[in-house]
Amino acid sequence: MARSAGKRGKRGKTGLTRRAFLKGIGIGGGALGSGLLASEVVPKGGAKGSAVTRLGPGPVPITLKVNGRVSTVHLEPRVTLLDALRDRLDLTGSKKICDRGECGGCAVLLEGKPVFACMMLALDARGRSITTIEGIAAKGALHPVQEAFIAKDALQCGFCTPGFVVASKALLDENPRPSLDQVREALGGHLCRCGTYPRVFEAVLSVSGRPARAQGPGDPGRSA
Ligand code: FES
Ligand code: FES
Repeated sequence: MARSAGKRGKRGKTGLTRRAFLKGIGIGGGALGSGLLASEVVPKGGAKGSAVTRLGPGPVPITLKVNGRVSTVHLEPRVTLLDALRDRLDLTGSKKICDRGECGGCAVLLEGKPVFACMMLALDARGRSITTIEGIAAKGALHPVQEAFIAKDALQCGFCTPGFVVASKALLDENPRPSLDQVREALGGHLCRCGTYPRVFEAVLSVSGRPARAQGPGDPGRSA
């Protein structure tokens, strides 16, 4: 049975029809059909309520600051930060494993905080400081977290390791003496198919100066 015009135009408590609401917030069928994303619309001149400039869908210049170096690449606005790093800036240390925010292999630091680069548009990282695993080591010397991963044998195939190292660095920068539970929590979004969790935790604790082998329920030897 066909829906009546009255039903289609039914007003809510606000007095707005659904059609008027969608039109008001700018997501009518035309915008959706063109593939327009919220992040592709930026205020022109930054002024609130002023005209907007639409970016894309073709390549646009995007300037990224990665490991202290500023680079401009031409990318479609839909390109993720991970793909920009790996495919355009040749920074392949961040791994593309699940590509949907479930493994942590792609972790990088954004303004010092760990983010999954596969879940972020390169466009949204403009003007912000990005640190990848390639930028962790200073002047050719490995970071203490990297040294600890080697010393504690905290890797097997190594595919997950860049993400673990980056997230561990972020944790230790914020909390130089985390408990084992805090280490577990900070690394909770990271998966290791080889099962090296106990040694990863041990490595992070060794950098913090905590006993490498805690006793009891928080024992790093306990399987994750
Ligand atoms: S590749 Fe990004 S979370 Fe798995
Ligand atoms: S060391 Fe192989 S996936 Fe973690």
